[in-house]
Amino acid sequence: MPRVPDMAEPSPPSPPSSDFPAHVPMMSTEYAERVRAWHESAYAQARAEAGSLSGPGQTFDYLGRTLVVPPQVQPITGVSHLLGEAVLAEVRDTDRVLDMGTGSGVNAILAASRSTRVVAVDINPYAVEAATRNAERNGVADRIEVRHSDVFSAVDGVFDLIVFDPPFRWFAPRDELEAASTDENYRAMTTFFRAAGRHLAPGGRMLVFFGSSGDLAYLRHLVDETGFTATEIAHQSLLKEGWQVAYSTFRVVRRDGRVGWSS
Ligand SMILES: C[S@@+](CC[C@H](N)C(=O)[O-])C[C@H]1O[C@@H](n2cnc3c(N)ncnc32)[C@H](O)[C@@H]1O
Repeated sequence: MPRVPDMAEPSPPSPPSSDFPAHVPMMSTEYAERVRAWHESAYAQARAEAGSLSGPGQTFDYLGRTLVVPPQVQPITGVSHLLGEAVLAEVRDTDRVLDMGTGSGVNAILAASRSTRVVAVDINPYAVEAATRNAERNGVADRIEVRHSDVFSAVDGVFDLIVFDPPFRWFAPRDELEAASTDENYRAMTTFFRAAGRHLAPGGRMLVFFGSSGDLAYLRHLVDETGFTATEIAHQSLLKEGWQVAYSTFRVVRRDGRVGWSS
């Protein structure tokens, strides 16, 4: 996988090549082309911003925390608060928390405002490093264990609260910058949902963030197929190149004979 030029170390290994079945978009061909076009413009912008950055990256003041985010890691965005505020409202003192795909560590750090037992994982070594530094920066390093993991590969045990903001698109990433926003054939998201039940304590809850600039119908399908039910608890629509794009945080729990999806 080619690297974005002029990036600082650490040098990551390539992610596993995807022999996962090809994703068949659950949307019209026209909408799939629109998603591809949005992705291309977002990627071009991210590359331009990354190329102009030197040093440790961008610094964000966000929900009372300071986060330094290197160019290879997902930044705080205009819709990050839809998940971050949900984490602050949901987390309890006694929760064991897993932040899947932690990126900068942002949601693990928010969860650590109450929980003393947070595990934060990411496949991107730059994210593992950034999350570790940000946990220290915000005085919660003793509450968060940051690990390198491909989905649950380095995760043991069960959690009361699992947080996941997956990459929205199903395309093959061309470099590690793009890998924050694409998950080839939805391998990671599919693997996550198929295994999540084994890592969720009785009565456990998940907070999942997703947008209609990804395959939202496939997320619905996964939730149903894997025995969960999802309720939309935060929502924002933005106009993107003349189209409305919706971003949502879903609270996901095990299904008790109820229909799998509500919004
Ligand atoms: C959209 S970003 C979200 C980052 C962060 N949670 C946030 O809210 O800003 C998705 C994250 O998932 C990570 N990721 C992608 N595939 C993964 C996998 N197979 N296992 C673990 N993390 C993965 C990416 O590296 C990226 O940091």
